[in-house]
Amino acid sequence: MKKSCKIAIFLAFGLITLLTSGFRGAFAQTAMMNTQARHSTSLNGKWQVIVDPLDGGNWKQIWKDRKPGNKSDFVEYSFEGSPMLNVPGDFNSQIPQLTYYEGTVWYKKAFTYSLRQNNRLFIYFGAVNYLAEVYLNGTSVGRHEGGFTPFQFEITGKLKEGENTLIVKVNSRRHADGLPGNGYDWFNYGGITREVMLIETADSYIKDYSINLQKNSTTEISGWVHIDGLYPSQMIEVLIPELNILYKTRSNEAGYAEIKINSKLKLWSPDAPKLYEVTVQCKTDTVKDEIGFRQISVTGPRIMLNGKPVFLKGVNIHEEIPQRLSRAWSESDALLLLTWAKELGCNMVRLIHYPHNENMVRLAEKMGLMVWEELPVYQGIEFASPGMEQKLDLMLKEMIARDRNRCGVIIWSISNETNPSSPNRNESLIKLAQQCRQMDSTRLITSAMSSQRYQNNTFELWDPLYSSFDIMSINEYAGWYNPWQGKPKDTKWNLAIQDKPVFVSEFGGEALYGNTAGAPDEAFSWREEYQEQIYKDQVEMFGTIPNLCGVCPWILVDYRSPVRMHPVYQQGWNRKGLLSENGDKKKAWFVMKKYFEEGTRDEGQGTSKKKKWH
Ligand code: GCU
Repeated sequence: MKKSCKIAIFLAFGLITLLTSGFRGAFAQTAMMNTQARHSTSLNGKWQVIVDPLDGGNWKQIWKDRKPGNKSDFVEYSFEGSPMLNVPGDFNSQIPQLTYYEGTVWYKKAFTYSLRQNNRLFIYFGAVNYLAEVYLNGTSVGRHEGGFTPFQFEITGKLKEGENTLIVKVNSRRHADGLPGNGYDWFNYGGITREVMLIETADSYIKDYSINLQKNSTTEISGWVHIDGLYPSQMIEVLIPELNILYKTRSNEAGYAEIKINSKLKLWSPDAPKLYEVTVQCKTDTVKDEIGFRQISVTGPRIMLNGKPVFLKGVNIHEEIPQRLSRAWSESDALLLLTWAKELGCNMVRLIHYPHNENMVRLAEKMGLMVWEELPVYQGIEFASPGMEQKLDLMLKEMIARDRNRCGVIIWSISNETNPSSPNRNESLIKLAQQCRQMDSTRLITSAMSSQRYQNNTFELWDPLYSSFDIMSINEYAGWYNPWQGKPKDTKWNLAIQDKPVFVSEFGGEALYGNTAGAPDEAFSWREEYQEQIYKDQVEMFGTIPNLCGVCPWILVDYRSPVRMHPVYQQGWNRKGLLSENGDKKKAWFVMKKYFEEGTRDEGQGTSKKKKWH
């Protein structure tokens, strides 16, 4: 290409960047995927912070990090001499005065960086709960809403020689029109809760790609690669050395190239969680990933994994390390939680009620645990509020963009226990389910519902959303919130849709580990025996459920929730864990473990015949 032509393109690109950077600065970009494979510089570690409960920092323009200009000048804030916080990490667990704080904390990190000529630089956040405003050297680079999905800003051309100052205003306050809304039954950990890094790329880089098994095939790998930058149209190679695959294609002017590769494969499964080393490369970028290939689908009342019926032996997990009273974020945190799940006999984990950190998803895949990922569309959501549709779309896009190549993820859940009569709920979630299916046709879609009716010892699953989902999932608390209406084994079921799988996404009850006060048959004594009996009765009832495709006890481990206020038995903890906050096994744990190991269930046709699992 002639030099003059290159210069013209470069100037055009520069002009476009300049024109859009202002707008682009207003909103975060959807983050590039697979950051662990990028040329990155971690900004994790100690950050200086200013706690700003009344948001005086806006008026003071803290993001300018001003210093006194002369002897008569003074500045009524300073990061120097201020407290330090660890990033990643919620601020609630790091400073005692912030235990229950919900509000603004200004974070500052200084760094130097020399960017190679013609390369680009991004600042990437794994997650910031809940609102983030990001400033570099006193100038806004943009903002992001949502506490559980990654985002990035391009800062090419915005660095200065020597020390750069990155300031992030984090506000963890709940919002009625937020995702989640004002009310939820977990601890609102605020702050920069996941990793922060600088990522340097070539002027044209592989921003994202989709490499999965084609639906209904066990040999056809299909997907796409997306190049972002000055030279979007390039030769692209996809290499899978173990399969002797070197696939060549070319991206178009928009930077997209389709992938279609046919090969015999070892399929991923919980018993054999096979991952392949996959390299995606073009002239200006190379990205390595570990990708597994599996088929997940629904055939009538069955979930099929690689063409065989699979029964989901799940457990619910919040993103919290209870012994540390803080957000989980690291690989070792993920190992602790997922090892407990494996010990229980699970082949699946429901990561509630928001997308968890990438370590959890990647490690689950390596450990052979299927994953249910969920949007924080939790209970009271203002579906009719202005801008809500855009928030829902963006958060869905951010969740899928990060994990679309994680074969362990088999289910996207787009909500939990929303109210069928709340304004615009049905329309919003039917539309969101359609969006989800458009973005990713390879996974199952559902929501955890609590709209079922339970009367005359009969469960009626009727919610209008079920026709948009692949699975009818229900959160039911018979034996706890709803006393049994008859013998569990006599429970009857009316399903709005006869041939769709039914998944019990939550069930259980509370108990304080080791408590011997009160009587075993009193709910209000928080006795382990009471919880244990709930589990025995639930197991009894499972045999009556038609199309049962899996069960998921609520919850793996006791977790913090300020709305759980009994001064003796709860003290701000939701005690439905099968484990205490110290990892002690309650009596109910053993009931669940036995069911997962030896459990019998009928073939979901409601017959009396009971069969061992496959
Ligand atoms: C609900 C909800 C959970 C909640 C649980 C409980 O079903 O989905 O987030 O914590 O019940 O009441 O303990």
